[in-house]
Amino acid sequence: MFASTSVQEFFPTPVWTLDLQPAVAEALNRQLLSDIKRMTSPRPMELELGGFWQTQTDMHTRPEFGQLTSLLQKACNAALDFLQIEHRGISITACWANIGPTGGLHSAHTHPNNYFSGVYYVHTPAGAESIDFFDPRPAAVAMLARTRQLNRFNGNRMTVKVQPGRLMIFPSWLLHGVPMNRTNQERVSIAFNAMFTDFTEVMSPPLKPGNLPFRSPSG
Ligand SMILES: [Fe+2]
Repeated sequence: MFASTSVQEFFPTPVWTLDLQPAVAEALNRQLLSDIKRMTSPRPMELELGGFWQTQTDMHTRPEFGQLTSLLQKACNAALDFLQIEHRGISITACWANIGPTGGLHSAHTHPNNYFSGVYYVHTPAGAESIDFFDPRPAAVAMLARTRQLNRFNGNRMTVKVQPGRLMIFPSWLLHGVPMNRTNQERVSIAFNAMFTDFTEVMSPPLKPGNLPFRSPSG
């Protein structure tokens, strides 16, 4: 018989969940809703079937959203620390609000030319409280065996429940989408992208000429 067995999870995909303290979230979200309402009044355009409203993408430069921008920045820094990435700073490159009415959805997509992307939830009606992440490995879905129970090893979609005051952060290349809002209330969230501030100057040159593209952790 086997003396021991183990499973190693190579190349895991990190998705961070950060929840604000309830009292902090409540006060922040009240303010955000009011500011977003002001930004989107009157509503800029008629929506197509399944559509949703988006604000300008410069919210991170507006003083009224300073508290949120600071939170996003701190969370990105913490994620980089977790990954032990050597860098000289990461910047929010875009930040915008999404207002999804009844029937609104966001099909699977990525956020090119950024390192982290994320969503902060301002208002999530009961029944419209999730985000989907899709397996980024095309080869892995060539064979989807029947399962006794779906889990993170055998599934190709992970659904995460969200709530007001929750911030999700993930690699910008990770395919994600938002299921249809089937409630009669609007769902309000704020999305953002972040990229290394001096990527071109510092991050993009080859790390070890002649020894790319593979990098192995020691041990
Ligand atoms: Fe997105």
